[in-house]
Amino acid sequence: MHRMDSSTPKKASSKQVLSQKSPPVVPEKPKKKGKLAAPSGDPSVDTNLSVPRDVLLQCQDLTKLPLLYPQTVLECVRERYLQQQFYTWAGPTLVAVNPCLPCHQLYHQEQVASFHRAVQAGSTPLPPHVYAVAGVADHRRSCGLGHINQAVVVSGESGAGKTESARYMLHYLCQVEHNVAVSSLTTTSSSHNRAALVAETQAKVLASNPLLEAFGNAATQRNHNSSRFGKLLLLQYSGCDLRGATIDTYLLEKTRVTHQPEGERNFHILHQVTAGMKADILNSNGSKARVRHHEQQQHHHEQQQHHEQQQHHQYEQLEYEQHHEQQQDNQYEQHQEFAISSKATKDSDVAALHTTLAALEQLCFSQQHQDDIFKVLVALLQLGNIQFLEPKTAAAGCAVKGDNNALLLASELLGVTDEQLSTALTVRSIAVPTKDRVSVFCHPCELESECCERLRACMQLLYQALFSHVIAVVNLQTAAASRQHWSQFIGLLDVYGFEAFEHNSLEQLCINYANERLQQAFIQAFLHTEQQVLLEEGVLVDECQFQDNSGCLTALDSPISVFAILNEECQLQRAVDEVAACQRVCRALQHS
Ligand SMILES: Nc1ncnc2c1ncn2[C@@H]1O[C@H](COP(=O)(O)OP(=O)(O)OP(=O)(O)O)[C@@H](O)[C@H]1O
Ligand SMILES: [Mg+2]
Repeated sequence: MHRMDSSTPKKASSKQVLSQKSPPVVPEKPKKKGKLAAPSGDPSVDTNLSVPRDVLLQCQDLTKLPLLYPQTVLECVRERYLQQQFYTWAGPTLVAVNPCLPCHQLYHQEQVASFHRAVQAGSTPLPPHVYAVAGVADHRRSCGLGHINQAVVVSGESGAGKTESARYMLHYLCQVEHNVAVSSLTTTSSSHNRAALVAETQAKVLASNPLLEAFGNAATQRNHNSSRFGKLLLLQYSGCDLRGATIDTYLLEKTRVTHQPEGERNFHILHQVTAGMKADILNSNGSKARVRHHEQQQHHHEQQQHHEQQQHHQYEQLEYEQHHEQQQDNQYEQHQEFAISSKATKDSDVAALHTTLAALEQLCFSQQHQDDIFKVLVALLQLGNIQFLEPKTAAAGCAVKGDNNALLLASELLGVTDEQLSTALTVRSIAVPTKDRVSVFCHPCELESECCERLRACMQLLYQALFSHVIAVVNLQTAAASRQHWSQFIGLLDVYGFEAFEHNSLEQLCINYANERLQQAFIQAFLHTEQQVLLEEGVLVDECQFQDNSGCLTALDSPISVFAILNEECQLQRAVDEVAACQRVCRALQHS
């Protein structure tokens, strides 16, 4: 979540990267000599620079500030934020600051219609707003301006409001599409069919959001609904019609299944399942319990309440943490290491489960299919309760500790025998392909820690496979029938928010790397090209200086780099001495 009190405010920046010259509706680029020059940290910059407050408030485009320096830019965004002006252009890029409060009027239906009218009329410049970004993309698509395919990249730190921004853009695009389909309705059955098809596609695309968030989002210290994966949604169009959508996901933080940083939660869906079993909505094997009469009556009410809660969730955080239940009696939270910490109330998880179930229905998951998915989730909860015993004699291997109950339940739910599961967790096997056959060497694990590591890996792989499966099924439902059915797309990329903790995991390194690569692509596609265009037009521009972390990227992903060495070590499948590995990386990078 964005915090405006920081001395170096970090903003959610919603960047539209369109790979051709700016369309007529976006603000003009600055052309005066020296205007692009804003060297950060330059000792020659006058730190007392100030722009009158009313000029800052009126300024809808940062590139039009009379003085363009880092501090004036930050001041402008801050002043506008304090006046509830949450959006500001920076050329064709939109800078969005998380309002941290509900602002329904900003995203009202009427706003959609008004931006649509303004875009159609070619009004320029459009007021800075997330709908303006979506509107420009939609207008360029429908008028065949510029490139066939476009992408809107939303980037920023965790909690900055990326997912909300992407959601609002999706709503804008669906709403506009719906209005167009309805307005073109004639009495012919083909136009009714077309409108019905568009409505069905929209409903499915919109239903995919809560489903993906249930499986891929979790409460973190920064964001109660943090996306723990990156998502690219491609809206597929043919002529004027939305024909379908596909979802690509990246870098699911699967380690969260077995370990959550202090004060954070596991993926929402696991909490929903736990709450669902306690509330008798799900049976102990994950199948749906028979809905009792009063629950049926409550169901609709809860769903509505949950929808409202989602809007206001953030603002109830403190209150809802006070409701935090220890849940020591929970059989699914026995084992400390894999325990799912709980911050939300049981009620909010139950309401969220209803939303997930409704989304599964909307996306045509059959009852059997839903039961199978929930079985795997309950199996994961059971796997988390398995513990191991080290062998008393050197000859024997580790064994599963206690009465094996969790092992029995998990194996039954996963459709394997308890022996198979126990062997998979306690015996290391290496397959060596020879000329005409594969030889498998088995070695019982002697250390409890090794078995725990195998269990963690098993749970993470299982969750990743389930997540990929859900995405694949959603895509089957939402994608256009075939490649012939669509000719262009608008992509909405909601990348995983970058973060820097005191200790950063490998996942965090990959996330930050992905963000840095995107930033690099943006610099290449936008700043370099813009400079080139200005030079070609004979406009004198001081060379634009910007922070460029390409050196860090080379150190990470070149042929001799951190990632190359890590890959090599992984392929060797041997225990790695941390100090030696660090020295190796340092030696390799010395000359790069
Ligand atoms: N435009 C907005 N209007 C009102 N509230 C917002 C808006 N954008 C974000 N928020 C609030 O901030 C919270 C965090 O936003 P969001 O989940 O979009 O962040 P994010 O950038 O996607 O973070 P992460 O990288 O952790 O997924 C939202 O749940 C919502 O409460
Ligand atoms: Mg997000």
